[in-house]
Amino acid sequence: MSIVAVVGLQWGDEGKGKITDVLASGSDLVVRFQGGANAGHTLVVGDKIIRSHLIPSGILYPKTISVIGPGCVFDPEIFEKELNTLKDLKVKTGKILISNRAHVVFPYHKYFDGIKEEYLGKNAIGTTKMGIGPCYSDKVNRIGITIGDIVSGTDLKPLLQNSLDEKNFMIKSRYNKKQINIKDMLNWIDKYRELIRKFTGNAYELVNDYASRGKKILFEGAQGTFLDLDWGTYPFVTSSNTVAGNIYIGGGLSPKYKVNVLGIVKAYSTRVGNGPFPGELNDEISELIRDKGKEFGATTGRPRRCGWINLDLLKFAVLMNGVTSIALTKLDVLSCLDKIGVITEPKKGINKKVPNTFLETNDMQIEYLNGWDISIDNIRTFKDLPKNSREYIKYIEKVLGVPASIISLGAQRKKYIMRKEIW
Ligand code: IMP
Repeated sequence: MSIVAVVGLQWGDEGKGKITDVLASGSDLVVRFQGGANAGHTLVVGDKIIRSHLIPSGILYPKTISVIGPGCVFDPEIFEKELNTLKDLKVKTGKILISNRAHVVFPYHKYFDGIKEEYLGKNAIGTTKMGIGPCYSDKVNRIGITIGDIVSGTDLKPLLQNSLDEKNFMIKSRYNKKQINIKDMLNWIDKYRELIRKFTGNAYELVNDYASRGKKILFEGAQGTFLDLDWGTYPFVTSSNTVAGNIYIGGGLSPKYKVNVLGIVKAYSTRVGNGPFPGELNDEISELIRDKGKEFGATTGRPRRCGWINLDLLKFAVLMNGVTSIALTKLDVLSCLDKIGVITEPKKGINKKVPNTFLETNDMQIEYLNGWDISIDNIRTFKDLPKNSREYIKYIEKVLGVPASIISLGAQRKKYIMRKEIW
Protein backbone atom coordinates (compact mmCIF):
# COMPACT_ATOMS: atom_id res chain seq x y z
CA MET A 1 0.00 0.00 0.00
CA SER A 2 1.47 3.35 -0.94
CA ILE A 3 -0.79 5.57 1.18
CA VAL A 4 -0.64 5.61 4.96
CA ALA A 5 -2.58 7.72 7.45
CA VAL A 6 -1.04 8.25 10.86
CA VAL A 7 -3.65 9.19 13.46
CA GLY A 8 -3.76 9.51 17.23
CA LEU A 9 -6.13 7.11 19.01
CA GLN A 10 -6.25 8.90 22.37
CA TRP A 11 -6.26 12.61 23.32
CA GLY A 12 -3.31 13.68 21.21
CA ASP A 13 0.34 13.68 22.28
CA GLU A 14 0.62 9.96 21.52
CA GLY A 15 4.00 10.47 19.88
CA LYS A 16 2.75 10.87 16.31
CA GLY A 17 5.60 13.26 15.48
CA LYS A 18 8.28 10.67 16.11
CA ILE A 19 6.46 7.95 14.14
CA THR A 20 5.61 10.28 11.28
CA ASP A 21 9.22 11.35 11.22
CA VAL A 22 10.34 7.70 10.99
CA LEU A 23 7.93 7.05 8.11
CA ALA A 24 8.46 10.41 6.43
CA SER A 25 11.99 9.40 5.42
CA GLY A 26 10.49 7.07 2.81
CA SER A 27 7.59 9.32 1.79
CA ASP A 28 7.23 11.41 -1.33
CA LEU A 29 4.51 13.56 0.23
CA VAL A 30 3.59 14.25 3.85
CA VAL A 31 0.18 15.86 4.11
CA ARG A 32 -1.49 17.52 7.05
CA PHE A 33 -5.26 17.40 6.67
CA GLN A 34 -6.68 19.13 9.75
CA GLY A 35 -5.88 21.44 12.64
CA GLY A 36 -3.22 24.10 12.69
CA ALA A 37 -0.60 25.36 15.10
CA ASN A 38 -2.44 23.77 18.04
CA ALA A 39 -0.49 20.59 17.27
CA GLY A 40 2.93 20.17 18.78
CA HIS A 41 5.52 17.75 17.54
CA THR A 42 8.87 17.30 19.20
CA LEU A 43 11.46 15.75 16.94
CA VAL A 44 14.86 14.76 18.21
CA VAL A 45 17.43 14.67 15.44
CA GLY A 46 20.94 13.96 16.70
CA ASP A 47 21.56 16.59 19.34
CA LYS A 48 18.92 18.93 17.94
CA ILE A 49 15.42 19.18 19.38
CA ILE A 50 13.00 20.52 16.80
CA ARG A 51 9.51 21.63 17.84
CA SER A 52 7.03 22.10 15.05
CA HIS A 53 3.40 23.07 15.31
CA LEU A 54 2.27 23.72 11.78
CA ILE A 55 4.82 22.53 9.25
CA PRO A 56 4.44 18.77 8.54
CA SER A 57 7.10 16.35 9.76
CA GLY A 58 8.23 15.67 6.19
CA ILE A 59 10.07 18.99 6.24
CA LEU A 60 13.22 17.35 7.61
CA TYR A 61 13.67 15.28 4.43
CA PRO A 62 14.91 17.20 1.38
CA LYS A 63 13.22 14.85 -1.11
CA THR A 64 9.81 15.00 0.55
CA ILE A 65 7.15 17.60 -0.19
CA SER A 66 5.23 18.77 2.88
CA VAL A 67 1.65 19.75 2.23
CA ILE A 68 -0.57 21.88 4.44
CA GLY A 69 -3.91 20.61 3.17
CA PRO A 70 -7.26 22.30 2.53
CA GLY A 71 -8.68 21.13 5.86
CA CYS A 72 -6.00 22.92 7.87
CA VAL A 73 -6.07 26.37 9.37
CA PHE A 74 -2.90 28.26 8.56
CA ASP A 75 -1.17 30.71 10.87
CA PRO A 76 1.35 32.84 8.90
CA GLU A 77 3.12 34.09 12.04
CA ILE A 78 3.87 30.59 13.28
CA PHE A 79 4.79 29.48 9.77
CA GLU A 80 7.37 32.24 9.42
CA LYS A 81 8.76 31.49 12.88
CA GLU A 82 9.14 27.77 12.10
CA LEU A 83 10.83 28.49 8.78
CA ASN A 84 13.31 30.77 10.58
CA THR A 85 14.00 28.16 13.26
CA LEU A 86 14.76 25.54 10.63
CA LYS A 87 17.07 27.99 8.89
CA ASP A 88 18.87 28.80 12.16
CA LEU A 89 19.34 25.11 12.95
CA LYS A 90 20.80 24.65 9.46
CA VAL A 91 18.76 21.51 8.79
CA LYS A 92 18.19 20.57 5.18
CA THR A 93 14.52 20.87 4.33
CA GLY A 94 12.16 19.76 1.57
CA LYS A 95 9.57 21.80 -0.32
CA ILE A 96 6.33 23.06 1.19
CA LEU A 97 2.95 23.49 -0.48
CA ILE A 98 0.07 25.31 1.21
CA SER A 99 -3.41 24.63 -0.13
CA ASN A 100 -5.14 27.72 -1.46
CA ARG A 101 -8.29 26.45 0.25
CA ALA A 102 -6.86 26.40 3.77
CA HIS A 103 -8.28 29.09 6.03
CA VAL A 104 -6.07 31.75 7.58
CA VAL A 105 -5.71 32.17 11.34
CA PHE A 106 -5.68 35.92 11.99
CA PRO A 107 -4.44 37.58 15.19
CA TYR A 108 -8.10 38.26 16.03
CA HIS A 109 -8.82 34.52 16.10
CA LYS A 110 -6.17 34.04 18.77
CA TYR A 111 -7.38 37.14 20.61
CA PHE A 112 -10.95 35.84 20.52
CA ASP A 113 -9.88 32.35 21.64
CA GLY A 114 -8.15 33.92 24.67
CA ILE A 115 -10.93 36.24 25.77
CA LYS A 116 -13.59 33.59 25.30
CA GLU A 117 -11.69 31.11 27.44
CA GLU A 118 -11.16 33.79 30.09
CA TYR A 119 -14.87 34.62 30.04
CA LEU A 120 -15.83 30.94 30.44
CA GLY A 121 -13.70 30.68 33.59
CA LYS A 122 -14.07 27.27 35.20
CA ASN A 123 -16.15 26.10 32.23
CA ALA A 124 -13.34 26.83 29.77
CA ILE A 125 -12.39 24.15 27.23
CA GLY A 126 -8.71 24.60 28.00
CA THR A 127 -7.81 25.37 24.39
CA THR A 128 -4.29 26.06 23.17
CA LYS A 129 -5.43 29.67 22.46
CA MET A 130 -4.02 29.37 18.96
CA GLY A 131 -7.26 30.65 17.43
CA ILE A 132 -8.27 27.26 16.06
CA GLY A 133 -11.93 27.24 17.16
CA PRO A 134 -12.62 30.85 16.12
CA CYS A 135 -10.99 30.28 12.71
CA TYR A 136 -12.98 27.10 11.97
CA SER A 137 -16.13 28.88 13.26
CA ASP A 138 -15.60 31.62 10.69
CA LYS A 139 -15.15 28.98 8.00
CA VAL A 140 -18.45 27.32 8.93
CA ASN A 141 -20.14 30.73 9.23
CA ARG A 142 -18.85 31.53 5.73
CA ILE A 143 -16.99 34.63 6.87
CA GLY A 144 -13.50 33.10 6.85
CA ILE A 145 -10.61 34.22 4.68
CA THR A 146 -8.64 31.64 2.73
CA ILE A 147 -5.05 31.51 1.56
CA GLY A 148 -6.44 31.89 -1.97
CA ASP A 149 -8.19 35.15 -0.98
CA ILE A 150 -4.90 36.52 0.28
CA VAL A 151 -2.66 35.61 -2.63
CA SER A 152 -5.14 36.29 -5.43
CA GLY A 153 -5.32 40.03 -4.83
CA THR A 154 -9.03 39.96 -3.83
CA ASP A 155 -10.11 43.18 -2.10
CA LEU A 156 -10.14 41.91 1.46
CA LYS A 157 -11.55 45.03 3.07
CA PRO A 158 -15.25 44.09 2.64
CA LEU A 159 -14.56 40.49 3.76
CA LEU A 160 -12.70 41.67 6.83
CA GLN A 161 -15.27 44.36 7.60
CA ASN A 162 -18.02 41.77 7.56
CA SER A 163 -16.12 39.47 9.88
CA LEU A 164 -14.88 42.17 12.24
CA ASP A 165 -18.21 44.00 12.64
CA GLU A 166 -19.66 40.85 14.15
CA LYS A 167 -16.63 40.23 16.35
CA ASN A 168 -16.33 43.79 17.58
CA PHE A 169 -20.00 43.77 18.50
CA MET A 170 -19.43 40.65 20.64
CA ILE A 171 -16.19 41.99 22.09
CA LYS A 172 -17.96 45.15 23.22
CA SER A 173 -21.29 43.79 24.38
CA ARG A 174 -20.23 40.49 25.87
CA TYR A 175 -16.57 40.62 26.76
CA ASN A 176 -15.98 44.36 27.23
CA LYS A 177 -12.49 44.17 25.74
CA LYS A 178 -10.45 46.16 23.23
CA GLN A 179 -11.87 46.31 19.68
CA ILE A 180 -10.07 44.88 16.65
CA ASN A 181 -8.84 47.48 14.19
CA ILE A 182 -9.40 46.70 10.51
CA LYS A 183 -6.40 48.77 9.36
CA ASP A 184 -4.07 46.73 11.57
CA MET A 185 -5.43 43.57 10.00
CA LEU A 186 -4.99 44.86 6.44
CA ASN A 187 -1.39 45.77 7.26
CA TRP A 188 -0.88 42.36 8.79
CA ILE A 189 -2.02 40.69 5.57
CA ASP A 190 0.34 42.87 3.54
CA LYS A 191 3.19 41.76 5.76
CA TYR A 192 2.65 38.06 5.03
CA ARG A 193 1.18 38.05 1.50
CA GLU A 194 4.44 37.54 -0.42
CA LEU A 195 5.70 34.86 1.95
CA ILE A 196 2.46 32.91 1.63
CA ARG A 197 2.32 33.35 -2.15
CA LYS A 198 5.68 31.61 -2.58
CA PHE A 199 4.30 28.40 -1.11
CA THR A 200 0.68 28.39 -2.29
CA GLY A 201 -0.76 25.91 -4.78
CA ASN A 202 -3.50 23.47 -5.62
CA ALA A 203 -2.82 20.73 -3.10
CA TYR A 204 -5.51 18.31 -4.29
CA GLU A 205 -3.93 18.11 -7.77
CA LEU A 206 -0.55 17.17 -6.34
CA VAL A 207 -2.01 14.68 -3.85
CA ASN A 208 -4.14 12.85 -6.44
CA ASP A 209 -1.44 12.94 -9.08
CA TYR A 210 1.00 11.30 -6.65
CA ALA A 211 -1.66 8.78 -5.56
CA SER A 212 -2.37 7.81 -9.18
CA ARG A 213 1.34 7.17 -9.76
CA GLY A 214 1.69 4.97 -6.68
CA LYS A 215 3.99 7.42 -4.89
CA LYS A 216 4.27 7.15 -1.16
CA ILE A 217 1.94 9.52 0.64
CA LEU A 218 1.79 9.93 4.38
CA PHE A 219 -1.19 11.71 5.92
CA GLU A 220 -0.12 13.18 9.22
CA GLY A 221 -2.91 13.53 11.77
CA ALA A 222 -2.88 16.02 14.60
CA GLN A 223 -4.51 15.76 18.05
CA GLY A 224 -6.35 12.46 18.63
CA THR A 225 -9.63 10.59 18.24
CA PHE A 226 -11.13 11.75 21.54
CA LEU A 227 -10.50 15.36 20.53
CA ASP A 228 -12.40 14.85 17.25
CA LEU A 229 -15.21 17.35 16.77
CA ASP A 230 -17.76 14.60 16.05
CA TRP A 231 -16.33 11.57 17.83
CA GLY A 232 -14.50 13.01 20.80
CA THR A 233 -15.55 14.02 24.29
CA TYR A 234 -17.66 16.93 23.04
CA PRO A 235 -17.63 19.82 23.90
CA PHE A 236 -14.09 19.28 25.22
CA VAL A 237 -12.68 18.70 21.76
CA THR A 238 -10.80 20.53 19.05
CA SER A 239 -12.65 22.08 16.11
CA SER A 240 -11.73 19.66 13.34
CA ASN A 241 -12.13 15.99 12.48
CA THR A 242 -9.05 14.16 13.61
CA VAL A 243 -10.13 10.68 12.51
CA ALA A 244 -8.67 9.00 9.43
CA GLY A 245 -11.78 9.50 7.27
CA ASN A 246 -10.90 13.18 7.08
CA ILE A 247 -7.92 12.54 4.83
CA TYR A 248 -10.43 12.39 1.98
CA ILE A 249 -11.95 15.77 2.82
CA GLY A 250 -9.31 17.77 4.66
CA GLY A 251 -6.50 16.15 2.68
CA GLY A 252 -8.27 16.26 -0.70
CA LEU A 253 -7.55 12.61 -1.56
CA SER A 254 -10.10 10.94 -3.83
CA PRO A 255 -12.06 8.25 -1.92
CA LYS A 256 -11.18 5.77 -4.66
CA TYR A 257 -7.81 5.24 -2.95
CA LYS A 258 -7.53 2.77 -0.09
CA VAL A 259 -5.10 3.50 2.70
CA ASN A 260 -3.36 1.78 5.58
CA VAL A 261 -4.22 3.43 8.85
CA LEU A 262 -1.55 3.40 11.51
CA GLY A 263 -3.09 4.27 14.88
CA ILE A 264 -0.70 5.78 17.39
CA VAL A 265 -1.28 4.59 20.94
CA LYS A 266 0.73 5.71 23.93
CA ALA A 267 1.39 2.89 26.41
CA TYR A 268 -0.60 4.91 28.97
CA SER A 269 -3.12 7.75 28.60
CA THR A 270 -2.67 11.50 28.87
CA ARG A 271 -4.92 14.46 28.33
CA VAL A 272 -4.12 18.15 28.29
CA GLY A 273 -6.97 20.61 28.73
CA ASN A 274 -10.30 20.05 30.41
CA GLY A 275 -12.91 17.36 29.87
CA PRO A 276 -13.66 13.74 30.77
CA PHE A 277 -10.71 11.45 31.28
CA PRO A 278 -11.78 8.02 32.51
CA GLY A 279 -8.99 6.33 34.39
CA GLU A 280 -7.19 9.55 35.32
CA LEU A 281 -4.70 8.98 38.13
CA ASN A 282 -3.89 11.58 40.73
CA ASP A 283 -1.22 9.86 42.74
CA GLU A 284 2.50 9.21 42.82
CA ILE A 285 2.23 6.94 39.77
CA SER A 286 0.80 9.72 37.62
CA GLU A 287 3.58 12.03 38.83
CA LEU A 288 6.18 9.44 37.99
CA ILE A 289 4.72 8.91 34.52
CA ARG A 290 4.51 12.69 33.93
CA ASP A 291 8.12 13.22 34.93
CA LYS A 292 9.57 10.23 33.15
CA GLY A 293 7.45 10.70 30.05
CA LYS A 294 8.03 14.50 30.02
CA GLU A 295 4.30 14.93 29.83
CA PHE A 296 4.06 18.68 29.43
CA GLY A 297 2.27 20.27 26.46
CA ALA A 298 4.55 21.01 23.48
CA THR A 299 2.37 24.01 22.51
CA THR A 300 1.40 25.43 25.90
CA GLY A 301 3.80 23.80 28.40
CA ARG A 302 0.84 22.72 30.56
CA PRO A 303 1.33 19.54 32.65
CA ARG A 304 -0.63 16.70 31.07
CA ARG A 305 -3.11 14.66 33.07
CA CYS A 306 -2.00 10.99 33.20
CA GLY A 307 -3.74 7.62 33.57
CA TRP A 308 -3.60 3.97 32.54
CA ILE A 309 -4.21 2.87 28.97
CA ASN A 310 -7.94 2.63 28.21
CA LEU A 311 -8.52 -0.35 25.93
CA ASP A 312 -12.26 0.11 25.95
CA LEU A 313 -11.96 3.56 24.39
CA LEU A 314 -9.19 2.35 22.11
CA LYS A 315 -11.44 -0.35 20.66
CA PHE A 316 -13.82 2.38 19.61
CA ALA A 317 -10.95 4.43 18.16
CA VAL A 318 -9.69 1.41 16.16
CA LEU A 319 -13.14 1.01 14.63
CA MET A 320 -13.73 4.69 13.96
CA ASN A 321 -10.39 5.13 12.20
CA GLY A 322 -10.30 1.81 10.34
CA VAL A 323 -6.97 1.11 11.99
CA THR A 324 -4.92 -1.59 10.29
CA SER A 325 -2.09 -1.65 12.82
CA ILE A 326 -0.88 0.36 15.76
CA ALA A 327 2.37 1.95 16.86
CA LEU A 328 2.72 1.60 20.61
CA THR A 329 4.77 4.51 21.92
CA LYS A 330 6.62 5.39 25.11
CA LEU A 331 6.60 1.85 26.43
CA ASP A 332 9.97 2.64 28.01
CA VAL A 333 8.25 5.08 30.39
CA LEU A 334 6.45 2.19 32.12
CA SER A 335 9.67 0.30 32.91
CA CYS A 336 10.24 -0.33 36.60
CA LEU A 337 6.58 -0.21 37.65
CA ASP A 338 5.48 -3.23 39.68
CA LYS A 339 2.01 -3.40 38.20
CA ILE A 340 0.59 -1.76 35.12
CA GLY A 341 -3.11 -0.97 34.95
CA VAL A 342 -5.22 -1.62 31.87
CA ILE A 343 -8.78 -0.33 31.63
CA THR A 344 -11.02 -2.89 30.02
CA GLU A 345 -14.72 -3.05 29.17
CA PRO A 346 -17.16 -1.61 31.70
CA LYS A 347 -19.08 -4.12 33.79
CA LYS A 348 -22.12 -5.73 32.23
CA GLY A 349 -25.27 -3.67 32.13
CA ILE A 350 -23.70 -0.56 30.63
CA ASN A 351 -25.19 0.27 27.28
CA LYS A 352 -22.09 1.29 25.40
CA LYS A 353 -24.07 2.24 22.30
CA VAL A 354 -25.47 5.36 23.93
CA PRO A 355 -23.10 8.26 23.27
CA ASN A 356 -20.98 9.27 26.21
CA THR A 357 -21.80 6.26 28.39
CA PHE A 358 -18.36 4.99 27.50
CA LEU A 359 -17.05 7.94 29.41
CA GLU A 360 -18.72 6.98 32.67
CA THR A 361 -15.94 6.31 35.10
CA ASN A 362 -17.93 4.55 37.83
CA ASP A 363 -18.20 1.22 36.10
CA MET A 364 -14.68 1.04 34.76
CA GLN A 365 -12.82 -2.20 35.20
CA ILE A 366 -9.08 -2.14 35.70
CA GLU A 367 -6.88 -5.17 35.37
CA TYR A 368 -3.30 -5.14 36.54
CA LEU A 369 -0.52 -6.78 34.57
CA ASN A 370 2.95 -7.49 35.88
CA GLY A 371 5.60 -4.90 35.12
CA TRP A 372 9.28 -5.38 34.21
CA ASP A 373 12.24 -4.06 36.11
CA ILE A 374 14.85 -3.25 33.48
CA SER A 375 15.10 -0.29 31.17
CA ILE A 376 14.20 -1.18 27.58
CA ASP A 377 15.01 1.88 25.52
CA ASN A 378 18.07 0.37 23.89
CA ILE A 379 16.36 -2.85 22.80
CA ARG A 380 15.81 -3.15 19.05
CA THR A 381 14.08 -6.51 18.56
CA PHE A 382 10.79 -7.75 19.95
CA LYS A 383 12.21 -11.01 21.23
CA ASP A 384 14.78 -9.16 23.34
CA LEU A 385 12.12 -7.26 25.26
CA PRO A 386 11.46 -8.54 28.80
CA LYS A 387 8.74 -11.18 28.89
CA ASN A 388 6.26 -9.04 30.82
CA SER A 389 6.56 -6.16 28.37
CA ARG A 390 5.89 -8.60 25.51
CA GLU A 391 2.86 -9.87 27.45
CA TYR A 392 1.65 -6.28 27.83
CA ILE A 393 1.93 -5.71 24.07
CA LYS A 394 0.21 -9.01 23.27
CA TYR A 395 -2.62 -8.22 25.66
CA ILE A 396 -3.24 -4.89 23.90
CA GLU A 397 -3.10 -6.53 20.46
CA LYS A 398 -5.58 -9.19 21.51
CA VAL A 399 -8.15 -6.76 22.90
CA LEU A 400 -7.83 -4.33 19.98
CA GLY A 401 -7.69 -7.03 17.32
CA VAL A 402 -4.86 -5.34 15.40
CA PRO A 403 -1.10 -5.92 15.44
CA ALA A 404 1.41 -3.56 17.02
CA SER A 405 3.70 -3.05 14.05
CA ILE A 406 5.94 -0.45 15.70
CA ILE A 407 7.06 -0.25 19.32
CA SER A 408 8.61 3.10 20.15
CA LEU A 409 11.06 3.22 23.04
CA GLY A 410 12.26 6.79 23.37
CA ALA A 411 12.24 10.22 21.77
CA GLN A 412 15.31 9.71 19.55
CA ARG A 413 14.76 8.75 15.93
CA LYS A 414 16.42 5.34 16.21
CA LYS A 415 14.67 4.16 19.36
CA TYR A 416 12.02 1.85 17.98
CA ILE A 417 11.29 -1.73 16.97
CA MET A 418 9.72 -2.23 13.54
CA ARG A 419 7.87 -5.55 13.60
CA LYS A 420 6.04 -5.22 10.31
CA GLU A 421 6.56 -2.92 7.33
CA ILE A 422 3.94 -0.17 7.22
CA TRP A 423 3.94 0.60 3.49
P1 IMP B 1 -7.88 23.85 20.52
O1 IMP B 1 -7.57 22.83 19.49
O2 IMP B 1 -6.75 24.81 20.79
O3 IMP B 1 -9.18 24.57 20.24
O4 IMP B 1 -8.12 23.10 21.93
C1 IMP B 1 -9.21 22.23 22.15
C2 IMP B 1 -8.78 21.04 22.99
O5 IMP B 1 -7.88 20.23 22.25
C3 IMP B 1 -8.06 21.41 24.28
O6 IMP B 1 -8.39 20.46 25.27
C4 IMP B 1 -6.59 21.27 23.90
O7 IMP B 1 -5.78 21.03 25.02
C5 IMP B 1 -6.66 20.07 22.98
N1 IMP B 1 -5.56 20.02 22.00
C6 IMP B 1 -5.41 20.75 20.89
N2 IMP B 1 -4.31 20.40 20.23
C7 IMP B 1 -3.74 19.41 20.94
C8 IMP B 1 -2.58 18.60 20.74
O8 IMP B 1 -1.84 18.71 19.76
N3 IMP B 1 -2.33 17.67 21.70
C9 IMP B 1 -3.16 17.49 22.76
N4 IMP B 1 -4.24 18.21 22.99
C10 IMP B 1 -4.54 19.17 22.07
